[in-house]
Parts: sequence; C-alpha cells; structure tokens
Amino acid sequence: MTTPIAIQTVETDLEAIADTEGKVAVLMTAEGGMDPLARRVNRLTKGALQRFADSDTFADLGAGKVHALVAPAGLKAEAVLVLKLEKSVDVTTARAAGAALAGAKGNDALLVCAGSHRRAADIGYGLILRSYAFEAHLTGEGKGKQPADATLMVTKPEDVQAALVPMAALAEGVFFTRDLTNEPSNILTTIEFAERLKGLETLGVEVEILEEPELHELGMRTLLAVGQGSASPTKVAVMRWNGGGDEQPFAFVGKGVVFDTGGISLKPASGMEDMVMDMGGAGVVSGVMKALAARKAKANVVGLVGLVENMPSGEATRPGDVIRSMKGDTVEVINTDAEGRLVLADVLWYTQERFNPSGIIDLATLTGAMIVALGNENAGVFSNNDDLADAFLAAARAEDEGAWRMPMGEAYDKLLKSRVADVANVGGRAAGSITAAQFLKRFVKDDMPWIHLDIAGVAFTKSATTFAPKGATGWGVRALDRLIRDKYES
Ligand code: BES
Ligand code: MN
Ligand code: ZN
Repeated sequence: MTTPIAIQTVETDLEAIADTEGKVAVLMTAEGGMDPLARRVNRLTKGALQRFADSDTFADLGAGKVHALVAPAGLKAEAVLVLKLEKSVDVTTARAAGAALAGAKGNDALLVCAGSHRRAADIGYGLILRSYAFEAHLTGEGKGKQPADATLMVTKPEDVQAALVPMAALAEGVFFTRDLTNEPSNILTTIEFAERLKGLETLGVEVEILEEPELHELGMRTLLAVGQGSASPTKVAVMRWNGGGDEQPFAFVGKGVVFDTGGISLKPASGMEDMVMDMGGAGVVSGVMKALAARKAKANVVGLVGLVENMPSGEATRPGDVIRSMKGDTVEVINTDAEGRLVLADVLWYTQERFNPSGIIDLATLTGAMIVALGNENAGVFSNNDDLADAFLAAARAEDEGAWRMPMGEAYDKLLKSRVADVANVGGRAAGSITAAQFLKRFVKDDMPWIHLDIAGVAFTKSATTFAPKGATGWGVRALDRLIRDKYES
C-alpha cells in the first residue's frame, strides 16, 4: 500500500528558513515578484533569487514550472526550488504547480514557502498526488522508501490544514486505485483483490464478498462464463458506505478483470502485459469508496465490482457459446475477448435488483476502440440521462479529469444481432465503443439514470500525466467523489 505523503502547515516564520534542512520552495511571479518569504530567501542567499529572476533561464521557465538552485550559500537547505506562479491562479493551475514541485522534491523533506497564496492548499494537493511511485517490487537501494513529508509555511495554517483534510482523504482513494491497477496479476488475483477490499472495513465500509456458489444461485452466468477458464475463483465484492439518511444509494459498478488474455479468442502476445490493468474500473470504484469513507461523506453509496480472470483453458467459454444472463436475455459469445460487457451485464442487473439505486455509473477498461477515438486524454461518457451526464461532466471539468460525451442510439443495436441468441457480444469494428455501450444499456432498466465510462485510455498511460507517473493514473476518483459531494450529499 502506497501511503500519500502528509503535509504539515506552519505559520510564516522568517527566522526558521535559514536552518531548514532538505529543500525549500519559494514562489515567484513571472515579473520576478517575491513575497516576504521569498524576499527573505533572497536576502539569505545574498541576492541569488534576484539574479535568477533576471536570467534568461528564468524567462524561459514555463508558468507553473520549477527550477532548482542547488546548494545555495546562506541556507542549510540543499536546494531552493523556485516555482513560477502568479498570485491569483485557478485551482487547476495551482495543483499542477504543486505537482511540478513533487518532481524536484524527490524523497527529500520540503518546506514550501506559500505565505498568503490563496491556493496554498491546492499546491499541497498537487504535491501529494504527484508524490506517488509504485516501487513495491523494486529491490534497489532506496527503492520502495516512503518519501519524506512536506510542510507548507503559510499565514493561515489552520485554514490551509482544514482545506487539506478532505484532499488527503481523496489522495488515499487515488493511491488505492493506482496500487490496485499497477499490481501484477500473479499478485492481485481475484482472491487478493477481495482481501484488499475487506481492508476497507476499518474505515467503516461494509464489505461483502459473493462467492461462486452464490453467483450460480443468483444466475450470474455471463459473469461466471468469463472466469470459468481460470484457476482463480470469480467473485463479486459489494461495498456499502452509509453516510447519508434513509435515501436510496447511488451505485458504482466496476469491471474487475484481473487479467485479460482474451480467452479462447486469445490476444496477440505484443502488449498483452498491459492487461494487468483490466481491473481498472473496479480499481476506481474501490478508490472512490475509500475516499468517501476516509472523508466521511454524508451520502449513501454502494460500489460493486465483478472480480474475474479471463483465461483460455479446456473449461473456458468458447466462441459461439450461448449464455443466459441474470436478467434473462441470452447472449451469443462471438468473441471471448469482449468479456468486460459480460461481467458488467450481470453485475449491473444485480445492483439494480438488490439496491434500486438513485443512479448508476459503471466504469470499465472496455474497448481498445475508445483509445482509437479519444486517446489517453479523455474517457468516453455514455449515458441515458442528460442531467446525470451533465453533472458528471461538470465534476470532471472541475477536477481536470478529461471526459467526453459519446453518442448512443437504438440504430446501433442492429450491429449486435445474433443468429441464435437475443444479442451478440460484439458488433464488428465500426463504432466499437458505442456498440459496447449499447450492449450494456440492455441491462439497465428504462428509467434508471445511468452513465457508462469507458476508461480504457485514461486508467493507465505509457507516459506520465500531470498528477501521476506512467502506469495507473487513478483517473476518475476525484471527479466521482466531487459528483457525490455536489449532487448527493445532504
Ligand atoms: N480489456 C479490453 C479492452 C482494452 C484494450 C483496454 C486495450 C485497454 C487497452 C477488452 O476486454 C477487449 O479486449 N475488448 C476488445 C473488444 C472486441 C473484441 C470487440 C477490443 O477492444 O479489442
Ligand atoms: Mn478483452
Ligand atoms: Zn478486457
């Protein structure tokens, strides 16, 4: 478990700066403007900041970026990190600036001289989110070490600390998602996944694990069909956070394919290792539940994840097999690699039958076609309800998590026609992400507000993003938490 760094806040104290060890960060405007703390550092270093402000290097430094002045005379600190940041910036800019500090900080202690900057807490938030590394399996010197905490020196430490409390809770959720999504599949089996979710009970989340015999009894055959070639048992985890009153819960549903070989419709070898992240939807659901519990959200929310491994074997589902879903619709499995929708079909139906939620959002690394359409910048948003979709898009925008509405429509259903069953599980190359969403829609009741988020491109990236190193991003935890906060909390 990767633990987020903690951020202390202390009152501005000009006398304390000279003796601070580790690294010291100061803020400077593009004009070279310094606040009292930066001016102090400038004086202690005999004008080094001013000389830097007059340099071409500073002129070339991008807004929100950091330059390190190493081993400054006059300070105990090993480096002064100069952050180019205006006094009045929006939340996104402040967080990105904090993230830029994280890179220069490394594992060292850092004092951020934020003074009276209005977005000091958001600078801290970005610093926390970007101070993540998945080093659980690295054995080298200094690998897997917890980075040192940071301190914000500010004029109103209590206010900034209060603002940081829910942000720290969110970071716990984001890191939980990233750890789950980065974890290799020989370690994060369905059994291990369920055990890690059980750990959320210490935060007050009720966690129930449905095992195969119960899943058979419930008739969750499309889910079970995906896992029947694997040595790992298929499970459904039900997480409940009851922070609200007696209202119906909101529901999150996640695809938790711990590894996707494609099954009998085997994937090509090249890049197959990326399919360790095919439980990314379940990872986000788990992270959101953790965040809601950690900040004691005043809402009722359930999170259900289908945990399953898609393997080829003598017992695996074959192309051409017809499976009867829990809902009752029969599905012809044309391609065993289109397994995510089979997982979600039954878990979506079960969620509605058991909880009759006020709305549902499902998340899944569902289609490669989503990456073709939107790349790694935006998740696809498919919905039957404009109010819910708009609320989610607003939350995603506020948290700077890319999300783009995609079309749906009955006309696409003809692509999913089957000769022998009610529906086929694939619709060919055209509109691959939309036909997947249309398939899911069959398993959503008519008046149920619903969003399907195809996160194939955003859950896991090959290069670093603003707030995450390459690998798992934790995309969606912040947006979904904000949606609950803005729309469902009393
Ligand atoms: N897990 C994959 C989708 C995926 C691909 C996610 C690449 C992230 C990166 C999914 O189960 C899958 O294999 N989808 C198929 C569907 C097709 C057979 C209709 C795909 O996208 O190729
Ligand atoms: Mn697949
Ligand atoms: Zn998959």
